[in-house]
Order: sequence, then C-alpha cells, then structure tokens
Amino acid sequence: MKLYQVPNYEAARLKAAGLIAAQINVKPDSVIAWPTGGTPVGVYEHLAALYNRGELDFSGITSFNLDEYCGLADDAPQSYHYFMDEQLFSKVNTAKDRQFFPDQNAVDINQACQDYDAKIAAYGGLDLAFLGIGVNGHIGFNEPDTVFSAGTRCVPLTESTIQANARFFDNADEVPRDAVTMGIKTIMSAKKIILVANGPAKREIMEQALCGPITPDVPASILQVHPDVTVIWSHA
Ligand code: GLP
Repeated sequence: MKLYQVPNYEAARLKAAGLIAAQINVKPDSVIAWPTGGTPVGVYEHLAALYNRGELDFSGITSFNLDEYCGLADDAPQSYHYFMDEQLFSKVNTAKDRQFFPDQNAVDINQACQDYDAKIAAYGGLDLAFLGIGVNGHIGFNEPDTVFSAGTRCVPLTESTIQANARFFDNADEVPRDAVTMGIKTIMSAKKIILVANGPAKREIMEQALCGPITPDVPASILQVHPDVTVIWSHA
C-alpha cells in the first residue's frame, strides 16, 4: 500500500487527479470505476480542468460507477447518474455509450447485478477503482458486516450512511433505504485502487481500515491485501 498523508483537501484532490490523469495517459482505454460523495468533487473538478487545458483525453475510457440508490430515476438530482453527469461526464469527452451504472430499477435486480459484473469482465476488467470511504468504513455501498466474496448486488443502507448522506437530500427520510453496489470482490479485482479520505470525521475509521484487523465490520480493511492500493489521506 502506498500512503500519501497530505496537509489538506487541496493537496489530496490534486494528488488524486494527477494519479488518475497519469493512468489515463498511460492507458487511454482504461476501464475506471468512479465514486460519488463530497470527497471526489474537487478531484473531478481538476480532471475537467486538465481536459480543458488539452492535457487529458477521456475519449477512450470506459466508466463503471461504483453504486446507485435503488428507486431513484436516472435523472433525479440526488441520483449518482445525475451526480456523475454534473461533476464529470458533461465536462469532459467521455463516450456516452461507455458510461455504465448498476441498474437500480431493474425488474430482476439480481440478474442485472450479475450482468454488471459480466460487462466489466467483457471490457477487460477494471484498470482502476477510485474510491472514497464512508464514516463507517464502507466502500461503494458495501456496508459493515459485508461479504468480501460478493459481486455487485443490492444492499440495505445502514442508519449511519442514511444520516451521513441526508445532506444531499431534503431530509433523512428522503434517502433511499437500499442501493446497488459493486461488491468487494468486484472492487478488489481492479488492477489498481486509489482511495481518498478527507477530514477529521474520517480519521478514526481510516486508522481502523489501514492498521486494524481485516474484518467485514470495516469493509475498507480488505484493501490491506490488495497488491496495488494508493491511499491519499488528509486529516484537515
Ligand atoms: C457515499 C458513496 C461512497 C462514498 C461515500 C463517502 O456513501 N456511496 O462511495 O465513498 O459516500 O462520501 P463523502 O466523500 O461525502 O464522505
């Protein structure tokens, strides 16, 4: 594991964007898993700035988002489809027909989740999974007491996640209770993983994830056994 402890969010977002840009420059047809939440916003902003300066070309990449809330329409303002479009896809030149999300409204959601993993495999697997971390240690929406061997699937959200994500909705009651998420197995199959954690609220869970036992109670702790993980961590 490579660990960059950086002084503040500004340093974290520039470091992460630089590493992601390098991945795309080295392998223009990279298959990339993208996260949502507050942490990646500044990273996406810098990636878009690199594109605008003509320093980065997204036209060859394929995107697979980590997760999506069940029950929201793709164009609902709180959906992760909408978030990705707002924060990154509409600002750069990613091919629209290679922007994939787990299908949160499929009639047969289990089949749709299996199809999502099959599609990732058909595109040659993930070259890079870019991750944030929840205050409870979740990655994607793999909540505590997760199953390390699981692929993409539908999961109930914990109360801690519902409260943490309520800031993106009118109130906590509006937060969907279920989500579809790339499983830990899917994430761990990525050739390279970059995780960004920012702020004092993440300090305790990051200490557990990086230095504590590898346990389903702290889903991010499984990253300790991945062969190519870069962690960018700012306490400030
Ligand atoms: C959501 C996403 C996660 C993300 C987490 C952290 O729950 N499903 O993928 O890592 O938020 O978000 P933030 O960066 O806002 O703390």
